[in-house]
This record gives sequence, C-alpha cells and structure tokens, in this order.
Amino acid sequence: MQVQTIATSAFTDQKPGTSGLRKRVPVFQQAHYLENFVQSIFDTIAAPAGATLVVGGDGRYYNREAIQIILKMAAANGFGRVLVGQGGILSTPAASCVIRKYQTFGGIILSASHNPGGPEGDFGIKYNGNNGGPATETVTEAIFARSKQIDTYRIIEAADVALDTLGESQLGGMTVSIIDSVADYAELMESLFDFDAIQAMLAGGFRIKFDAMHAVTGPYAREILVNRLGAPADSVMNAVPLPDFGNGHPDPNLTYAHELVEIVYGDNAPDFGAASDGDGDRNMILGKGFFVTPSDSLALLAANATLAPGYRQGLAGIARSMPTSAAADRVAEALGIPCYETPTGWKFFGNLMDAGKVTLCGEESFGTGSNHVREKDGLWAVLFWLNVVAARKQSVEAIVREHWAKFGRNVYSRHDYEGLPTDAANGIMVLLKAGFATLSGKQFGSYTVKLADDFSYTDPVDGSVSTGQGVRILFEDGSRIVFRLSGTGTEGATLRIYLESFEPDVGKHHLDAQDALAELIGIALQLTELRQRTGREAPTVIT
Ligand code: G1P
Ligand code: ZN
Repeated sequence: MQVQTIATSAFTDQKPGTSGLRKRVPVFQQAHYLENFVQSIFDTIAAPAGATLVVGGDGRYYNREAIQIILKMAAANGFGRVLVGQGGILSTPAASCVIRKYQTFGGIILSASHNPGGPEGDFGIKYNGNNGGPATETVTEAIFARSKQIDTYRIIEAADVALDTLGESQLGGMTVSIIDSVADYAELMESLFDFDAIQAMLAGGFRIKFDAMHAVTGPYAREILVNRLGAPADSVMNAVPLPDFGNGHPDPNLTYAHELVEIVYGDNAPDFGAASDGDGDRNMILGKGFFVTPSDSLALLAANATLAPGYRQGLAGIARSMPTSAAADRVAEALGIPCYETPTGWKFFGNLMDAGKVTLCGEESFGTGSNHVREKDGLWAVLFWLNVVAARKQSVEAIVREHWAKFGRNVYSRHDYEGLPTDAANGIMVLLKAGFATLSGKQFGSYTVKLADDFSYTDPVDGSVSTGQGVRILFEDGSRIVFRLSGTGTEGATLRIYLESFEPDVGKHHLDAQDALAELIGIALQLTELRQRTGREAPTVIT
C-alpha cells in the first residue's frame, strides 16, 4: 500500500455550523479543502488501528467524488473496514441506524440537508460518533481547531472503488463493504410500528402521497410504503434521487414542497400527505387539506406514542429545541414525564437519549425523532403518523383538533429572512441584545415583556455549557418571540423569527396562525427595526 503524506496549508473557514461543515460545491472542490477537513476529523477522533467507519451521503452532486477521497484517506489512516451505502447513498437516519447496528467507531455523512445541490449548489460533511449521533460541540470545536493547524494529510494511491455492487473489496489494507442500507433501515422501522394495521388501512382504500423531492428517501420510501406496506406505486412521487434534486429545493415545507401541497389541498386529495428533505431526516405531515405544524406533530406523537408497538411501554421524557413551541411541554406535564429545552440542532439531544432521559425529541424545523437512532428521521415520523391514524381510525385533521381541544393550541409560525447582508443581520442581533436591560416590564399593545435574554444551556448529562443560542422575548401570558441567525446557510445571513402564543379557547382554534399572531409579528418588526435596516417588506419563507 502506497501511503502518501501530502503537504497542505490550513483553511481558516472550516468551522462546523448547526450540522457539520456546509459550503458551496466550488469551495469543496478547491485543492486540499475536503482532504484537510477529513484529516482534521481523523486526527481529532483518533480511532484505534483497524476500526470500522460508515460513509455515505444524500447523493447530491460531488457525493461520489468525495467518497472516493474519504475511502483512500481512511485506508491511509489505518481504518480496517468502511461500510458504504450502495451507490454511495445513505440517508442521515439510515447512517445513524447502520453505525448503531454494526457498532462501528463512527461515521462520516455527506449532506447539506435541505439546501439545493448541483455544481453551484451546496455540499456538506459531518462526523457522527459511535452512538450514531452528530458529534458533540466539544468534538466539532476540536475538529475546527485542528483544521486551523493542519499541514499534512494522508491518502493512498489506488484505483477508485466500485460503489454500486453489494459486497466486499480491498483498498490498500482496508476492506470496503458496500451494504444495502435500505434493508437495515426497513427492518428497524418494522420493529417499531404496526405494519399489519397500516397495511390493512391502505388495503381499505386509505390513500397516501409521499414526496421524496428527488432526494435520498426515494428508495427507502418505495421499499417500505410500496413493497412492504402495499401502497400503490404512485403513492411515492419524485422517487428517483438526482444529484441536483431535479433543480428543486429539497426542503419539506409549504413553500418548497408546493407540488405535494397542491395535491393535498386539491380536488380528489389523498387522505395523508408527507415529504422528506435532501438527506431524509426532515418530515412534513399533511392531512386532506390540512397542515400539521412540526411543533404540534411532536406533541401529538408523544400523546399517542403508546399506540405504536415500539413505544408501548411509554416515554422516559421528551426534548425539544428552544424555538420549538411548548405544545410538547403540555403533553409531558399531563404524562408526568420531564420535558427538556435544548439549543437548536440535533447534536444536543444525543446525551439525553444516551442517558435514557428522553425517548422522543423534535424541532420546529420539520425534525422529529426518537431514541431508535440518534438523528431526526423523516420516514420514521411518517410511519408513526400512519400507525396513529390506523389505530385511531380518524382523519389527521380530527386527531389534531381533538388534541387542541384537550391541551389548548400553541399557535406557531416561523418567519425567515434569507440572504441578508451579514452586517445588517448582526446589527439586528446587537440591537436586540442592547435592549435586554430595559425590556422587562415594558408594554407592547396587549403584551407585557416578562423576560428578555440570550438562551444558554447547561447539558444535564456532561455539564457542558452552550451560550448565545438565540434571543428570547418572553411575555407575561406565555407568548414568545425568538430571534436567531441560521447556522446552516452558506450565503449571507438568515434571520429566523419564531412566534408563539397560546390559545385555550376552542372557538378560536380555526383561526389562521398568521392572523392570530399578527400583533406579535408587528412587535417583532418594531423591535428589530427590520424594514429600515434591511429594506425587506416580507419574509422569504413562512412556515
Ligand atoms: C436549521 C434548523 C435546525 C436544524 C438544522 C439542521 O438550522 O433551524 O432546527 O437542526 O437546520 O437540519 P439553522 O439554519 O437554523 O441553524
Ligand atoms: Zn436534513
């Protein structure tokens, strides 16, 4: 085996964000850019010689090239075996599943999630540890620190590995196993949910539509929904993964999944609609002409969890990210179990799940999951919902309305302002923080500020502290406005404004969220001086 040690110089911009290192494809294509980051991972994790690694990605442009580089570097760095998804494809939750099932040292996932792909689109890379979850902040900080010092990396000279044929081959002294991750993942789903009940419901004429958005979930959805559960083949749309996602924006929300939205709000609509994102960890749930907010979805799954065989024993606890609505907190209270509030990003849930403190967790950003893996999981959420609907024999809308009648409704919306000049966005955050001292007790229309702060979190398991996790304006009546800058974008800055109020009155549950939140939206614009500072009249995306 010819191990080469290549001289390189450090890049200064390899700081992982909310979910790994994300940059535009041309940035990753620069000489040594990917190699430097991969070597920084290997240097940081210090795997013992002969360790096993998992590698795969969401199939976006540059996936295959990156995998060949990573395999040759893994061989040069002493790994004994690498498990690779067939065709280089692994959805993020399937990668987590495979790391856990085969008890590997860790895994490298190549994805920029819901960001568009293609030669001018985005690419990304992140490291997951042996629990199957994203590396903790301590590890990602160490990788970043290493990336600023690195001066050599190790790679072997060898022919490319064939990624499409299942089976084993040798690369230097290392074994490469091309695996069928769809089978591993489908088996896990079958162990959690009542496939017989779902199959019977589908056979009885219940119609579903799942939009894979030309991204990674196509093969997984086909195998599970069509082959195993018997849904008609056209129940899965945009099922073939494409390197540029068919020029789409593979983000399952009302704006970007409009093709599906038109179907479920149209004539002859199916009973159930769902979509997943680029790497398969996000989900959007729709009933006939009805949208379930992700915050409500988490609360509803928690309230109905014991209907699914995998959760029949009940839940240890629930966790939600800070900007996610408090709907789940109400369910946790009723169940007498703890509810944890963490910073944005899945990496904060891992410790809680490993310590057995929580079973379900979720984020307002269309992410829901459980301790079956250590990533959020799009298809898992879809199957959970189908299990609940099959058991309750009610429509999605009826289930949600009953839930609101029992627990009250946490009216919720997020307004994103994308592609802002970085200075303007930072200026708004500085302005908000400057107001902390004087905001408390201040009256805005019918709302009085109770507390204004910058969210920080102390991990209850390892004691680590994460500061600067988002500005919160909490009002006396429990309403909230939260402001954060995105940590996943690659161009300019994205300001996210999260709005929430609580409505106990069933007579007002039919109101449109934007109308019900109008006064809070006005307060948010006033506090940020958003129009004056950015010239923007409206958000880019409303979810
Ligand atoms: C966004 C979401 C966050 C999610 C992350 C990865 O991060 O807001 O909840 O965990 O994508 O899917 P952000 O861009 O807000 O930093
Ligand atoms: Zn994703």
